[in-house]
Amino acid sequence: MGRLEGKVAIVTGGAGGIGSATGRLFCEEGARIVLVDRDADQMHSVLAEMRSAVPNPEVLGIVADVGEESFAKRIVDDTLGAFGAIDVLVNNAGIRSYEPLADAKAETWHAILSVNLLSYAYLTREALPALRRSGRGSIVNVSSTHAFNPRAGMGQYDVTKAGIVSMTRTLAFEEAPHVRVNAICPGATFTTFHKRRAEALSRSQEEVDREAATTCLLRRWADPREIAYPILWLASDEASYVTASALMADGGRLVI
Ligand SMILES: NC(=O)c1ccc[n+]([C@@H]2O[C@H](COP(=O)([O-])OP(=O)(O)OC[C@H]3O[C@@H](n4cnc5c(N)ncnc54)[C@H](O)[C@@H]3O)[C@@H](O)[C@H]2O)c1
Repeated sequence: MGRLEGKVAIVTGGAGGIGSATGRLFCEEGARIVLVDRDADQMHSVLAEMRSAVPNPEVLGIVADVGEESFAKRIVDDTLGAFGAIDVLVNNAGIRSYEPLADAKAETWHAILSVNLLSYAYLTREALPALRRSGRGSIVNVSSTHAFNPRAGMGQYDVTKAGIVSMTRTLAFEEAPHVRVNAICPGATFTTFHKRRAEALSRSQEEVDREAATTCLLRRWADPREIAYPILWLASDEASYVTASALMADGGRLVI
């Protein structure tokens, strides 16, 4: 038996680094999954990869901008139409911004709040009736180590990640005991995004590696699968007594 056998899960940002690793692991563990992402090309290749790596995966891809409130109902309706239930919601879609707060533009604030925070709120609201019906519903909100450990230059992002932890705790309170709600706080996780950003800034792989080596106890970047495993645990019945938590998966960054 897989650890998510019989469950239906939605993963937003499902074509990205952590989202696609999570979707794939969930599939391997027996879940029927819905990946949601606004990047149609990337979604296409992630689905193709999953279908060749996992025998008979039950997976639906939805191309949608989760920052648009109207898509939340459509995502829930399509999931119920395809699989008839929702047991797990992983709110994971995220964007970054690199404006110091002194220069932060209204346009950037609105964009990052709508994806990193409001999309979590909209999709959660629409999915809650089905999650309550599940009887073992679990929401995992992807925050960041920087919710607790802010830095200069990414204030807007860090504010949204702190907001996710706060939203998680309030929701856990409001939805107990029927739906468990937890946050996961990844540290530096190496994805295609970071590879491309390093290339754009002409930074060598050595420089990129050195950055992670000096900022966490484990002295390296995480692989997206190392974040997918704690998400899997929080989503599964193995974490049946865990709610309102913010699980650090940051290689020990907080104590440095
Ligand atoms: N990678 C890290 O180091 C790290 C660290 C801490 C937290 N996180 C968080 O983990 C989550 C996943 O990050 P990742 O590293 O996999 O990033 P990523 O950029 O690889 O993936 C993010 C995905 O979200 C999708 N997305 C963005 N806006 C969207 C929208 N409006 N509608 C639908 N899809 C949208 C993107 O297309 C992309 O596929 C994010 O919330 C991020 O903040 C990442």
